Amino acid sequence: AQAIAPAAVAPQASPAAAPASKEVTILYGSQSGNGHGISKKAAKMLEEKGFQVTLSSMSDFKTNQLKKVEQLLVVVSTHGEGEPPDNAISFHEFLHSKRAPRLEGVKFSVLSLGDSSYEQYCQTGKEFDARLEALGATRLHDRVDCDVDFEEPTKAWLEGVLTRLTEAQGGGGAATAPVAAPTAEAPSAPSAPAAESVYSRTNPFEAEVLANINLNGRGSNKETRHLELSLEGSGLVYKAGDALGIYPHNDPELVDLLLAETKWDPQTEVVVGKQGDKRPLRDALIENLEITVLTKALVEKLAPLATNPDLAQLTAAGNEAAVKAYVKGRDLLDFVRDYGPLQGSAQDAVSHLRKIPVRLYSIASSQTANPDEVHLTIGAVRYDAFGRARKGVCSTQTAERLEVGDKISVYVQPNNHFKLPEDPGTPIIMVGPGTGIAPFRSFMQEREETGATGPSWLFFGDQHFTTDFLYQTEWQRWIKDGVLTRMDVAFSRDTDEKVYVQHRMRQHAKELYEWLDKGAVFYVCGDMKNMAKDVHQTLAEIISAEGGKSLEEAEAYLAEMKKSHRYQRDVY
Ligand code: 2AM
Repeated sequence: AQAIAPAAVAPQASPAAAPASKEVTILYGSQSGNGHGISKKAAKMLEEKGFQVTLSSMSDFKTNQLKKVEQLLVVVSTHGEGEPPDNAISFHEFLHSKRAPRLEGVKFSVLSLGDSSYEQYCQTGKEFDARLEALGATRLHDRVDCDVDFEEPTKAWLEGVLTRLTEAQGGGGAATAPVAAPTAEAPSAPSAPAAESVYSRTNPFEAEVLANINLNGRGSNKETRHLELSLEGSGLVYKAGDALGIYPHNDPELVDLLLAETKWDPQTEVVVGKQGDKRPLRDALIENLEITVLTKALVEKLAPLATNPDLAQLTAAGNEAAVKAYVKGRDLLDFVRDYGPLQGSAQDAVSHLRKIPVRLYSIASSQTANPDEVHLTIGAVRYDAFGRARKGVCSTQTAERLEVGDKISVYVQPNNHFKLPEDPGTPIIMVGPGTGIAPFRSFMQEREETGATGPSWLFFGDQHFTTDFLYQTEWQRWIKDGVLTRMDVAFSRDTDEKVYVQHRMRQHAKELYEWLDKGAVFYVCGDMKNMAKDVHQTLAEIISAEGGKSLEEAEAYLAEMKKSHRYQRDVY
């Protein structure tokens, strides 16, 4: 597991040198918007202390400005298998290339966001941290790696950074008088919702369920829920392309199986979280604690409690790979069944559990069209593994245990990197198979409501036409009304040979390239590992073939599109 830098920073002797600059540059790389949110908070806090802050997404930052930066804060998440988020790719590449300048004069600190259930935990942050040092920059404050529950370590990092920056100013107290310099944020990035609601990630809104419908027909292999929630009275504001965060609950049946296996008393009071709230164990396991993901770190922490000698063997030194292989796809119940019983109290064990991470869903509605509502498109995740049926926490709570009139805790997560073009006349191409369709329903509602005239083209795919054509009648109406200009669909299991969205793109390569050439914005939403990768590859091939470019030039064309916000992805 990753050691987290201590929260408190030992005060250093005041430097004898002249006070450091009051200018601080914050660069963020963020896929889901957490990094952006934290950066804005950091900027606000530093400005209040009299610093002049330049806040920019890494993709908007002019790399020739890097040499002029004296104090640099990097906030970056890690995506997929240890990769940088989309808006960090070009800067990450630049910094690791020969073009990167020496950075002797730069003081920096990195906050890295990640998820410890992934092997490449916080990888991108670690890379920035190491590379900045290798280029000669000095650490202002140690890197802090944050797990999904990032609030506390983030706060500690911010406080530590502020202390160091203030010390560098040559005083123990606050920096000098506030400077009224507004945060310079890249003008091309559309701004986040203006009106601040009292509800947020740390204070979620209890939204009432207005509708919960299965969009798939009888006989489908899938269950995709259309969920409508009320935002009435919340003051929550969202834009097309934003996501909704949900605090889900674990399946009570799974919790009861775990309690039966451990013989823990369901009513015993346990402390949840660092604040020390006490709750009955069963409630805590349903509402607060993660039990569906087993990590290497958790196995190592639980090992001293396990009496089964096989576990000592599994976790013995040099057996890293075996533990990693064991935890993959398993949950806490598997662990207790395989290596239990556990010694000690329930508290001894549950102290090591993470909080249930929030789930983010791309919003499927436009608030312009539905002022008091938010809609989601949620695919129920169900599969078998290690001889037991497994269920996605939030998606099957929605499918099986969320009824009209029930309430669920939510907040809006802005995503400034998945936005309709500011010019309503700009053509858009949308690729969204499966639940990837969600934000495009929101785009169409928004464009219809605002009377946007730009042409639009949708590629949708799913298994079967008759059962899986999500929101079919809505698309057909939008086509009829001219809100949607073109639609190409790929039903993969209706024919002997599979057809996917990228096959439809290739069939219409010439027109697709013409659209791009005319300035269309290209959006992809949905599965990252396979679909988005294949769509990217196809897009590069189309640009190469139709634009008379080498594949390398086509990749450069796509990189340029990304930079100018004309290639946007919301992939998971
Ligand atoms: P399949 O399940 O028949 O393989 C939404 O899930 C749709 O995306 C389904 O039709 C699914 O097809 C398809 N899909 C699966 N892998 C894909 C890939 N690599 N590229 C594009 N679509 C894919």
